[in-house]
Amino acid sequence: MSPALHRHPRFISLEGGEGAGKSTAINAIREALHARGHEVVLTREPGGTPLAERIRALILTPDEEVAAEPLSAEAELLLVFAARAQHVRQVIQPALRRGCYVLSDRFTDSSYAYQGGGRGLEPEWIADLERRAVGLLPGLTLLLDVDVAVGRARANGRDLWPDRIESEQDDFFQRVRAVFRQRAAQDPARFRLIDASQDQAGVAASVVAAIDAWLAQEHPRD
Ligand code: TMP
Repeated sequence: MSPALHRHPRFISLEGGEGAGKSTAINAIREALHARGHEVVLTREPGGTPLAERIRALILTPDEEVAAEPLSAEAELLLVFAARAQHVRQVIQPALRRGCYVLSDRFTDSSYAYQGGGRGLEPEWIADLERRAVGLLPGLTLLLDVDVAVGRARANGRDLWPDRIESEQDDFFQRVRAVFRQRAAQDPARFRLIDASQDQAGVAASVVAAIDAWLAQEHPRD
C-alpha cells in the first residue's frame, strides 16, 4: 500500500505564476497571522534548508559550467523533490510540531504545474513522489491567478536577469496556469483562488480576508 498524504491545518502555501505578486502577499499573510497572535515560520521552495537552497541554485541559477549541460525534465522533477524531502523533514514538520504556522512560498502544486504542465511529465509520477517523499499537504493553498501576459509584463519590469524557468516562453506559462487552475477547481476545500490582476494592495487585502476566513473556520473560538 502506498503511503498516505496528510493535510495540516497550520500549513499554508502560496502559489502562482510569474509576476503574480507573491512577495507582497506573503508579507501581508505573515503580518496578519502575527497580529492574531500566531507564530509563523516563513519559508520557500525550492529551498528552505541549506541543502535545498543549493539545489534551488542548481535548477534556477546554475553557474556557466552546469548551465552548459541541458537539464532534463526528469532530473528537474527529481531535484525539486529532493529539495522538498529535506525541507519537509528539516523545517516544515518540526515547526508544525512546535505549534507554529508554516507559510511556504510554493509547494508541491508547483511541481504539478511546472514539471507536469510546463514540462509535460506524468502527473501520476508526481503524485507517487508526493506520497512517498513528502506525505504532507497544506490545509490551505492560496493561488494568485493572473493572465500570463500581465504577469510576465510585471516580472520583466523587475528581473534584469531572468532565471532558467523565467526564460521559458508564454505557452509554457499558459500550461502552468492551466494546471494550477485545474487543481484549484478539483480541490475547493484546500484552494482559494485570488484575482492577482488587482493592484498589490488589492491582492494583499484578498489574501488576508482568505486567511481570516480560514482561521475562523479552523479555530472558531480563538
Ligand atoms: P520563485 O521563488 O520566484 O517563485 O521561483 C521559483 C521557481 O521555481 C519558479 O519559476 C517555479 C519553479 N518551481 C518549479 O518548477 N517546481 C517546483 O516544484 C517549485 C517549488 C518551483
